[in-house]
Amino acid sequence: MKKFAIALFALALLAGGGFAWLATKKPAFVQPLDMKVEITDERITRGRYLFENLADCDGCHSPRDWNRFPGPVIEAERASGFEFPAELGLPGRVISANLSSDPETGLGAWTDGEILRALREGVSRDGRALFNFMPFEHYAHMSDEDAYALIAYMRTIPPVRKAQPRTELVFPVKYLINDLPRPVNGPVAAPTKEDRVKYGEYLVTLGECKTCHSLLDKGVPVAGREFAGGEPFRFDTRLVRSANITPDEETGIGLWSEDRFVAKFKGYAEMTAANAPPMNQSNFTIMPWLGLARLTDEDLRAIYAYLRTIPAIRHPVDVHPQQGTY
Ligand code: HEC
Ligand code: HEC
Repeated sequence: MKKFAIALFALALLAGGGFAWLATKKPAFVQPLDMKVEITDERITRGRYLFENLADCDGCHSPRDWNRFPGPVIEAERASGFEFPAELGLPGRVISANLSSDPETGLGAWTDGEILRALREGVSRDGRALFNFMPFEHYAHMSDEDAYALIAYMRTIPPVRKAQPRTELVFPVKYLINDLPRPVNGPVAAPTKEDRVKYGEYLVTLGECKTCHSLLDKGVPVAGREFAGGEPFRFDTRLVRSANITPDEETGIGLWSEDRFVAKFKGYAEMTAANAPPMNQSNFTIMPWLGLARLTDEDLRAIYAYLRTIPAIRHPVDVHPQQGTY
């Protein structure tokens, strides 16, 4: 809880001497674009890939079975939102939105422009700022085409009628977030796949690998610790720390070949919600293995190529500490 609150606090002080003014400030939003995304099979397929696999919108927006590895999504309730557990230490009650096509409780009645603005600029339909635990600042780099694909796909998610309560952040965070939305002045393009490192970086940005795999101070990766792991994630009595995925040979994945990296992910490709093993402290994780296992070979190789270019950081991590020691 501390973490996020202090971060945003510091940010506001830098931004303008105190945060009192933010209490009355409206988020810097522009009107949603008047646009209509053409729904094609290609876009739906790409959108599903982004939603369920690469960006794991699924994992943050769907109720999950936390008693099975690695918390598979409950199919019938896909995208209907849920409340994050208090033990995670977020600054208040954080509830992800219902993104299903239900017109009353989901996105069914939203325009495409409204969805696009929420996704990349962090402004909800009614003009309120979203909490940036929803990674809209990173999605600002999402290409127009990928954003359209997501919109097309979300239109096809079966409606689940479930009214979610609204996120309620503590003071002062609830005001500080008003300073975060930024209009995206398009067009935004993805790097070409031929530039594997740059394309890999794009995938890593959409995959939120850095946020989970860095020690977070005040909600932001600590400078110089990026991708070096160690951030604790607590759910009920279980705890996992993210792994060091820098090229450090001793404490990171420096000795992993490209094939070994791909194989690690593909090792979960046969696993489904139906056959996933029970999840206890010794294998507890929030790493979205089921979704990422189904990335294309090409994308996994691009991610690997990018991860080879980041600085190696020596940082041993006890990923699955023994129960009772934390
Ligand atoms: C780390 C978790 C996380 C991830 C990943 C995530 N979201 Fe969210 N999202 C949230 C939370 C939490 C909220 C609600 C924030 C609030 O109420 O202030 C939200 C809100 C939204 C909203 C606004 C809904 C509303 O009613 O205002 C949209 C649209 C959305 N997310 C779409 C997506 C899409 C599409 C993806 C994947 C590309 C995604 N989200 C990935 C956590 C996440
Ligand atoms: C929601 C948080 C989260 C996200 C997002 C996430 N990871 Fe992880 N990851 C973890 C945790 C926690 C572990 C350690 C537990 C485990 O192995 O499951 C882990 C483990 C790993 C490992 C295994 C390392 C080892 O030494 O065995 C690799 C490789 C990895 N992640 C790569 C990635 C990449 C690449 C991305 C982005 C595409 C990513 N992760 C996104 C949380 C996350």
